[in-house]
Amino acid sequence: MGGSIANPMVSVDLSTTYLGLRLSNPFMIGASPLADHLDTARRLEDAGCAAIVLHSLFEEQISQAKSGRIRHLDPLDRQFAPVVSYFPEPEAYALGPAEYLEHLRRVKDAVKIPVIGSLNGTTAETWLKFAKLIQDAGADALELNTYEVVTEPAQTAMAIERGLRQIVQDLKHELKIPIAIKLSPYFTAFANVAREIERAGANGLVLFNRFLQPDIDIRHLSVWPRLDLSTSAELPLRLRWLAILRGELRCSLAATGGVVTPNDGIKAILAGADVVQMVSAILSHGPSYFAAMRDELRRWMESLEFARLEDVRGRVSLAKTEAPSAFERAQYIRTLSGWSSWLGYQAYVRAHEDDEPKPPS
Ligand SMILES: Cc1cc2nc3c(=O)[nH]c(=O)nc-3n(C[C@H](O)[C@H](O)[C@H](O)COP(=O)(O)O)c2cc1C
Repeated sequence: MGGSIANPMVSVDLSTTYLGLRLSNPFMIGASPLADHLDTARRLEDAGCAAIVLHSLFEEQISQAKSGRIRHLDPLDRQFAPVVSYFPEPEAYALGPAEYLEHLRRVKDAVKIPVIGSLNGTTAETWLKFAKLIQDAGADALELNTYEVVTEPAQTAMAIERGLRQIVQDLKHELKIPIAIKLSPYFTAFANVAREIERAGANGLVLFNRFLQPDIDIRHLSVWPRLDLSTSAELPLRLRWLAILRGELRCSLAATGGVVTPNDGIKAILAGADVVQMVSAILSHGPSYFAAMRDELRRWMESLEFARLEDVRGRVSLAKTEAPSAFERAQYIRTLSGWSSWLGYQAYVRAHEDDEPKPPS
């Protein structure tokens, strides 16, 4: 086996490269309020978290601070007041744009691991110039979250994808630091979207944005914003696309969503992730969970005699599959037509979950 070691006492190399940044291991904190306090940022680093993504600054915040408008709408114009009122007041955000930059500088001073700024927006407009200020404040990279639920029937997929590409090109034009794009899986031809975004200059893709599904309150006949922490059930969608894209793209791939246990993290790397971003599990277990993630990965690699993370990454991907589409379709058909034996297999896997892994022959 390539990269195998004879002596399991030889230490394994967990280091990885993400967006051109060298990281000590693949586990990092995803965009969230977890690094809003300096002491938590330090605790994350002490526990072995390899990099930090700060929470996102929203396009609407930046536009409002710059021009008093949201999406070109004036909050004082009565015609637009109802639309603008959906958005929070500027004071409701944890940090305004200027405070965000100040916080970024402080986090950079407080830790040695890379710190990645985050923007959240969907239009190729002037707010993107703010990215340059994030770079100037010392960010090692920028993550752009393109969260959008497109509800306008006249808007075409082609126009949306063109808009995305334009944003990436504009950001690339503006910045020297690497950029990662956090995407939704809901595109008709996601592999093409991913490739076009890479061609537009993205240094990495973060898969996937988790769509928050608002719920309905039947007592008050209203919508309430629902935020549940994720579970491992969300992981297979990420595994599938990591596995498909690993052999197709050269840019970095980050998994986000549904990595809750060390085994989930190992699966994401096997599928092709360079790094694994975590939020829900760290909110539940605290920063020290990073040490558990790293230790379990090391133990698993030792048990299978893997010397380097590189030997693991993408090992269970479609990189070496000649016809990925046919493979996917065949898997689908096999699963449905052989469903009874798959249920038996699942029961077998569950019954042997705690067995020691054996090196592949
Ligand atoms: C409380 C909370 C705040 C978050 N804030 C952001 C954010 O500001 N920007 C962003 O891109 N994602 C944000 N996310 C999404 C996470 O970065 C991550 O993609 C998602 O939670 C899935 O990862 P997980 O399964 O490890 O939680 C947030 C998630 C949570 C739970």
